[in-house]
Amino acid sequence: MRFDVITLFPEFLAQSAGLGVVGRAQEKALFSLHGWNPRDYAEGNYRRVDDRPFGGGPGMVMLIEPLQACLSAVRAADPTPAPVIYLSPQGRPLTQAKVRELAALPRMILLCGRYEGIDERFLASAVDEEISLGDYVLSGGELGAAVIIDAVARLQEGALNDAESAAQDSFEGELGLLDCPHFSQPAQHPLGDVPDVLRSGNHAAIAAWRRQQSLLRTWQRRPELLDESTLNKADRKLLAQGRDGLESDKNP
Ligand code: ADE
Repeated sequence: MRFDVITLFPEFLAQSAGLGVVGRAQEKALFSLHGWNPRDYAEGNYRRVDDRPFGGGPGMVMLIEPLQACLSAVRAADPTPAPVIYLSPQGRPLTQAKVRELAALPRMILLCGRYEGIDERFLASAVDEEISLGDYVLSGGELGAAVIIDAVARLQEGALNDAESAAQDSFEGELGLLDCPHFSQPAQHPLGDVPDVLRSGNHAAIAAWRRQQSLLRTWQRRPELLDESTLNKADRKLLAQGRDGLESDKNP
């Protein structure tokens, strides 16, 4: 997987992709990251990358020419086809399903805007897809690019060991449920004891408990993710039993 990031702050991306699981994946050459600064492709003494918007208003708009020259250099650096993805609050919100789709690509070009945005003519000619992190406004696309790189890189074959396996993650699996709670040593603690079932060694019971916790958490915290009509009989039973358990905890 090759990431090319067009950004006024390439060092920001290099830092965030150098740590933890993602940093290890990069060391193992499971992906490569290439930062491209449009300022390096700007003309003139001032290497201007932005100017005032036509029609007035606040802020500055990133200029077509440096971005076009920069993108040409990115394309010329490697023949592998790659979509240009623009990070912006006007894009579709990123989901784990989208992350999986992106993770299957050989390459992508992430375009980060700053200031008020990018000249619409460049966007219309060059961008294949617009992705947003969520319904809030950031000061630039770099955090969005860092999020995509992190989420996509950890799904590359060999990035996670068995214990970290992505199959257990929230939003993975057929129903896209939230992850279950996790516990480690000590089994007994003033903050609470580890549920007995996790210490029972009974793998089927542990799997059922985890599934039940995932169902319950999704139902409690993100009910819009859970379409109960699509649950199979076993899941329906686990969820019903889980809810009964919550009720009896409340009214012992
Ligand atoms: N740039 C500015 N706001 C953004 C957002 N919400 N998501 C992605 N990129 C952005």
